[in-house]
Amino acid sequence: MAGRALPLLSSPGSPLRSTPLLTLFSQCSRLRSHPTGSLASLPILLSSPRHVRRLATAAEPSVVVADDDRYGGKQVIRLTPQLYDYILSNVREPPILRDLREETAAMRGSQMQVSPDQAQLLAMLVQILGAQRCIEVGIYTGYSSLAVALVLPDTGRLVACERDARCLEIAKKYYERSGVAHKVDIKHGLAVDTLRSLIKLGESCSFDFAFVDAEKRMYSEYFELLLKLVRVGGVIVIDNVLWHGKVADSLVNDPKTISIRNFNKKLLEDKRVSTSMVAIGDGMTICWKKAEF
Ligand SMILES: C[S@@+](CC[C@H](N)C(=O)[O-])C[C@H]1O[C@@H](n2cnc3c(N)ncnc32)[C@H](O)[C@@H]1O
Repeated sequence: MAGRALPLLSSPGSPLRSTPLLTLFSQCSRLRSHPTGSLASLPILLSSPRHVRRLATAAEPSVVVADDDRYGGKQVIRLTPQLYDYILSNVREPPILRDLREETAAMRGSQMQVSPDQAQLLAMLVQILGAQRCIEVGIYTGYSSLAVALVLPDTGRLVACERDARCLEIAKKYYERSGVAHKVDIKHGLAVDTLRSLIKLGESCSFDFAFVDAEKRMYSEYFELLLKLVRVGGVIVIDNVLWHGKVADSLVNDPKTISIRNFNKKLLEDKRVSTSMVAIGDGMTICWKKAEF
């Protein structure tokens, strides 16, 4: 099983070269942290063996992870660093977002911000919905919220929930610099308090779109509150649902992983929403609120 190491960093020609690549699945991070520091003799471990016909090795660097008769022979591919660079080269990232991403890159926690391809998907969902009223839970320095605010109409409103004042200072600077500050209603404090107070103020069923990207163990609570606040036909997007691949690894049972795993199971069984779990960034689930529960 000898072969070559996979490239793990952006290629020099990449238009988003300064973006550190996300750890897209746990297999990659395991390989990277292998004690020998060498990948040469390792097979590339793929998902559930029952579903996998091909075990890619460095000698056979297949991108196919599933090729299963049960799914009509549909081939499913994995994301390689090279392929991810290609995806990033197809993202139209506005210069102001690039500036914010680059300023944030030097900061503690920069890995928390959504990737450019995720931000583009969020913005597009907002556009498809023709959204006027949005909520984001977990702003950090503002990358995803700015992506949303940029595509909101001038009369639109984004309620931005964040507990960290220092992060908010950076977010505010970019809302102002890009001329969208009037669309963003910053709520500094615990997100749960903000969401509860919006409900008390009679704003239930008035939001078109919500994005959840904060404390993982609170996901279920955020979701229930947001389901009240979002209108029928509105969308709630939840980030980090794949949790670096740990949700699929039965040997990983730390509280955050268990909590996200349980949340994913609850969503799957939740008849109030249609859902789609998408393998983008660290995984996002898109939920559409149905008319009748
Ligand atoms: C993953 S980061 C958000 C990244 C952001 N969406 C982006 O793309 O740049 C999570 C943020 O949620 C905030 N946070 C965590 N728990 C919170 C809570 N209970 N209430 C409000 N904000 C919270 C953290 O301070 C952190 O800035």
